[in-house]
Amino acid sequence: MIRHDQGSETGAGPLLRPVALGDLEMPNRVVMAPLTRGRASGPGLVPADLHAAYYGQRAAAGLIVAEAAWVGEGAIGFPGVPGIFTERQVEGWRRVTDVVHALGGRIVLQLWHTGAHSHPDHLGGARPGGPSAVDPGEVCWTAEGPKATVTPREMTRAEIERAVADFGAASARARRAGFDGVEVAANGTYLLAQFLNPRLNRRADGYGTDRARLLLEVVDAVAAAWDGRRTGVRLSPYWTVHDTAPGARGDYPYTADEATLADYDALAAELGTRPLAYLHLRGRALTGPDAAPDLDEFARYRKLFDGPLIANHGFGRDSGGAVVEAGIADAVSFGRAFIANPDLVARFALGQSTARSDEETHYGGGARGYLDYPICPGP
Ligand SMILES: Cc1cc2nc3c(=O)[nH]c(=O)nc-3n(C[C@H](O)[C@H](O)[C@H](O)COP(=O)(O)O)c2cc1C
Repeated sequence: MIRHDQGSETGAGPLLRPVALGDLEMPNRVVMAPLTRGRASGPGLVPADLHAAYYGQRAAAGLIVAEAAWVGEGAIGFPGVPGIFTERQVEGWRRVTDVVHALGGRIVLQLWHTGAHSHPDHLGGARPGGPSAVDPGEVCWTAEGPKATVTPREMTRAEIERAVADFGAASARARRAGFDGVEVAANGTYLLAQFLNPRLNRRADGYGTDRARLLLEVVDAVAAAWDGRRTGVRLSPYWTVHDTAPGARGDYPYTADEATLADYDALAAELGTRPLAYLHLRGRALTGPDAAPDLDEFARYRKLFDGPLIANHGFGRDSGGAVVEAGIADAVSFGRAFIANPDLVARFALGQSTARSDEETHYGGGARGYLDYPICPGP
């Protein structure tokens, strides 16, 4: 097992080299991971000047993967998350992409559908749809706070076709909004990961006998909106119970085992035949103060996926430099570090320490805990 060495001398050097992920040309390999911040609080789930300022502050990232955005009304499952299914949302995002580009950055949008991990509160009282009528046993955040998920309806063939069409249309809108590309959110506990999961997908039709079918149809619909390689896919094959919000119930359906990992192996190889910019892997949840990413888990996909890889979860400057230097990943994404350090690339380059984010302000609210993290104070 390869463990990264906190005291490694590799430093940030490898992260500061330019790279191309498909047609996304980047001056460095420090990627801002997608971060839901729940600040689209106005009517219509439209991103505002607040969002433009936040992403503008982080434009030195090699690539920004903007927070997950709803592909349609039926995709909604979290408060204050912006959409990419109306013209007003396209206009709002256009301000964001204009600011990031004016400041020399690159930005792609993550496309999200929560499926069975939604709640009737988000859907006008209707039950959410999922692969099968199996309660995922998650906690869903609503305007009234956290609520237990319910048993979803098994999605009809027409609803599946609608979801694929929504992803495709959202991708085309993201292009019109000025994004440099899009990322399909197939990670975590949401619609596309639900279909991949044998414990939640018990369908007898072709979307159950081939659990990767929905994701592959979505990827094809999303990629068709672009010329060249500007679509990324995010997966979390090692997602475990430790990642869930407190209060998750029952036997946890997302624990990785040999069978699910074998499915992901086949999926990674299949994705390598698609015109993708990159595969974005979120690694296992880390437990304990000395826990470090297990690079073997990322190296597994290096062999299987024929294309650029972004590694994520628990990386820092040295461990991020090391995973690139070892040739295991082409770039590394940083989540919490980008919340608290808008100038993360400069801090890495200068060898400065990084600040920790305040979890109280991760989701919802306004500029506090969003726009007010200071830039590096210097030596
Ligand atoms: C506040 C917050 C919001 C997040 N929102 C998203 C999201 O919208 N989409 C997604 O794929 N992951 C999301 N994540 C996961 C992050 O992209 C990332 O995988 C996680 O923070 C681990 O990386 P890190 O160790 O560098 O923080 C979120 C994480 C946090 C802390």
